[in-house]
Order: sequence, then C-alpha cells, then structure tokens
Amino acid sequence: MSIEKFGVIGAGQMGNGIAQVAAASGMEVLMSDIKEEFCEKGIGNISRNLDRMVKKEKISEGDKTAILGRIRTTTSLEDMKGVDFVVEAAVEREDLKFKIFEDLDRICPPGVILSTNTSSIPIGRIAAQTSRSDKVIGMHFMNPVPVMKLVEVIKGIATSEETFQLTWDLCEKFGKTPAEANDYPGFIANRILMPMINEAVFCLYQSVGKAEDIDTVMKLGMNHPMGPLALADLIGLDTCLAIMETLYDGFKDSKYRPCPLLRKYVEAGWLGRKSGRGFYQYT
Ligand SMILES: NC(=O)c1ccc[n+]([C@@H]2O[C@H](COP(=O)([O-])OP(=O)(O)OC[C@H]3O[C@@H](n4cnc5c(N)ncnc54)[C@H](O)[C@@H]3O)[C@@H](O)[C@H]2O)c1
Repeated sequence: MSIEKFGVIGAGQMGNGIAQVAAASGMEVLMSDIKEEFCEKGIGNISRNLDRMVKKEKISEGDKTAILGRIRTTTSLEDMKGVDFVVEAAVEREDLKFKIFEDLDRICPPGVILSTNTSSIPIGRIAAQTSRSDKVIGMHFMNPVPVMKLVEVIKGIATSEETFQLTWDLCEKFGKTPAEANDYPGFIANRILMPMINEAVFCLYQSVGKAEDIDTVMKLGMNHPMGPLALADLIGLDTCLAIMETLYDGFKDSKYRPCPLLRKYVEAGWLGRKSGRGFYQYT
C-alpha cells in the first residue's frame, strides 16, 4: 500500500512537527485542529522552523516553499476521508482521543491505518473504540519532532504485523529511527523518563534543591543535555501530569503518584514553555 496523503490530528507542538517531517519527506499533508487560529499557529511554527533550517543552509528557500506548499489545514475532521494514513496528536486526554478514533473509524476508508502519538494511553483501549483494531498503532514521536531521531512504535494486542511493518517503514521514510515497544502504560520512553521528572518535582517540592540546582545536578552530574525540570517545561506540565496519572492508574502502584506540586502548577495554568511559565519563566 502506498501512502501519499498523510493526515495529522492536532496542530500543537507535536502535530505541527509531525506535519513538517511528513511534508519534508514528499507527502501531501492535511493537518486538523479545532480552531482556525490553532491551525495558523501550527503553520507559523513550521514556517519559523524551516526559516532556521534555511539560515543554517540545511535546506534551500525553494525547499521551504515546497514543504509549506504540501501542507493544508482544516477544522473539520470529516476532511480526513481522503488521507491514506492518520496520526493523531491531540491533547493527552483519553475521552478526547476515544471520540477522535470513533469518528475517524467512521470517516476514513477501512484500509486506512489510524495511529496515535499518545505518550501513555494504552493503544488497546484506543483501538477498542474502532472496528479496525488491527489497524491501530502507536507512533510516538519525540519533541521537537524535526530534531529528534526516535519514534517509538507501539503494538497494541490486536495490531497486525502488516500495520506494524508499514508504520515502521514510514518512520524510516521520515528519516527517523524506530524502536519497538509493547502496549503497557507509558510504553518504554515515558515509563522511564516521567518518574524521573516527577522525582525532580518532588525534590523541588521538598526543598531538596532549587530548580536551577536540580537541573544542574542532572546536566553536569549525569551528562543529560537538559535538566529534568527544563525538559518538563518543554514537554508541557499538563502532558507530564497526564502521563503520571496514566502510569498510576495503569499499574496501581504508589511509586507513580504525581507530585502535588506538579498538579498545583497545572491547575494554575503554569504549563511550561507553551504558557510562558512553568518551573522557569519564558518571555
Ligand atoms: N509535548 C511532548 O513533548 C510530547 C512528546 C510525545 C508525545 N506527545 C503527545 O502528543 C500529543 C499532543 O501533545 P502536544 O504537546 O502537541 O500538545 P499541544 O497542547 O501543544 O497540542 C494539542 C493540540 O490538539 C488540539 N486539539 C484538541 N482537541 C482536538 C480535536 N478534537 N481535534 C483536533 N485537534 C484537537 C489542540 O487545540 C492543540 O492545538 C499528546 O497526546 C501528547 O501526550 C507529546
């Protein structure tokens, strides 16, 4: 099956990054969001990313125009009826993703693979909202998508080998390196990363150290390119909290309880870089 038209649900930081890499690989991309202004913001972000690549002479001005020319946007999910493959990258809420998959199952022809960029929601639960669970799979890109090489490809219990192979090949076409994971909460990446970030928030909560010191310890002591609190701000604190909740609910193990300070920040609307304030302030 050849994939020429690629659908992306959600024009946020992950969705617009995925749209960019798909368009850069030569595909026609349709990116959807709930409001026109979110679509425009997504396109603006892609345009700025491409400008940086032109400046660094990684691509030409002509490449930039061609990539942008391959991306269209819509606020109607119904328009996904014409795409060959979908990746969903809407906010990390189970009820919302369930509804999107139920709708996509009705809208898209039966052969179309419906993938999700979820950070932690079990693929099997999402697949169960459709009548094509063999064609539902996790395609978990890393942030920022155009820069990070990894895509975690997650098989649900019913995902077919054909769906897996097609998704794997697509990752390679995008210039990414896929890694295979099975369907348990958090998969591999966030099962390991998120408890570390949560523990860093506990260190701040219990005044073991200030944010800058916690991040310095992990950068210089453990050779991490970025401290865990700065990384949490980049990921989005709402997303971090949602992942911890999924780990906690999925395993019923108290070691995954979200730090109360993380919840407090999210409730205050301090979501990290995207809202201008998280563990650090951004102008
Ligand atoms: N942020 C990260 O580092 C990261 C990394 C890997 C995976 N993810 C996952 O990617 C997904 C998106 O995360 P993000 O960081 O891009 O969030 P974000 O908040 O930047 O973007 C989410 C977008 O989804 C849109 N949306 C909401 N409901 C929608 C609907 N019904 N249809 C279409 N669009 C809708 C929102 O308007 C918003 O623009 C989440 O599942 C998240 O867990 C995030």
